[in-house]
Amino acid sequence: MAVEVNHRKVAIIGAGFVGSATAFALSQSGLFSEMVLIDADHDKAEGEAMDISHGAPFNKPMKIYAGDYDDVADAAIVVVTAGAGQKPGETRLDLVHKNVGIFKSIIPEIAKRDFGGILLIVANPVDVLTLAALKLSGLPEERVIGSGTVLDSARLKTELGLHLGIDSRSVHAFIIGEHGDSEIAAFSSANVSGIPLNDFCEMRGHFEHEKSEKAIAERVKNAAYEIIKRKHATYYGVAVAVKRICEVIVRDEKSILPVSHMMHGEYGIDGVCLSMPSVVGADGLETKVPISLDEDEIKALQESARTLKEVVDSIDFN
Ligand SMILES: NC(=O)c1ccc[n+]([C@@H]2O[C@H](COP(=O)([O-])OP(=O)(O)OC[C@H]3O[C@@H](n4cnc5c(N)ncnc54)[C@H](O)[C@@H]3O)[C@@H](O)[C@H]2O)c1
Repeated sequence: MAVEVNHRKVAIIGAGFVGSATAFALSQSGLFSEMVLIDADHDKAEGEAMDISHGAPFNKPMKIYAGDYDDVADAAIVVVTAGAGQKPGETRLDLVHKNVGIFKSIIPEIAKRDFGGILLIVANPVDVLTLAALKLSGLPEERVIGSGTVLDSARLKTELGLHLGIDSRSVHAFIIGEHGDSEIAAFSSANVSGIPLNDFCEMRGHFEHEKSEKAIAERVKNAAYEIIKRKHATYYGVAVAVKRICEVIVRDEKSILPVSHMMHGEYGIDGVCLSMPSVVGADGLETKVPISLDEDEIKALQESARTLKEVVDSIDFN
């Protein structure tokens, strides 16, 4: 029997750049009243918890502390950010064996405490690690999701908003597939408040659709490399993406987010986790949303899945 869930509690495993930025974003959100940070370096977790908790008089009340795995059992969401990050020039898939090793020491600790909440994977390569978390935890698939391309889709909307001179929140567009080099910008279904993207571009004086789409998709795909080249890590963007996913779960919003999840034959893809838009709510992933894709996008998605499958097949999950 799973432990009763405390819907006001979140746990963050890994208090590095991403974990601490996420903790800070959550401390500002008012979503939770308790947050526990866990890190192999306990002092680091403790220092971050102390620092963030000193904002208490300016925020909604929240107990913030460094803990251990006994503290995660009743959390509504456990966010896993522990793992090595990309160094300049490294791809996300280069991190796989190191970070699967780290997951083997983390995920069973959560599972054996009869955790009843949602496991949200953020460490990279996030799609492979979401699958690893599924296998290592034995939790139901709907309760194990990866942050996937939620950040990449935000980057795409940001770029399109800038390109068109409009509020990025009026842009509906998804990056799908791997959170990584084989990701796909699904332009064929992109729209601005219901107006097909190309029509809206023309309204705003842009007519070279193919050229612009290619440049924007490349900028989105390479965003992490460009940031890492300059500041050696990325963390603020992902932190607010994780905050948004937590919000959707805690408030049972049933919003559509491109989270990473297990595929079962959709678009001919099976046995890998990758991102496709899905309805997310209090129980995790509720319904997969089969957005329409053109032939090239389907081909690229299948290629993305093949890339991930090759990596997954090289891993010993035991
Ligand atoms: N999904 C995304 O969109 C996204 C975006 C940015 C970064 N990331 C990924 O997030 C991960 C963390 O990045 P970072 O910049 O915070 O790295 P970091 O090195 O700053 O932090 C990693 C933390 O994990 C801890 N850790 C390592 N092994 C552990 C274990 N077994 N148990 C508990 N804690 C452990 C380390 O002590 C460290 O504090 C990386 O894999 C990175 O690629 C993902």
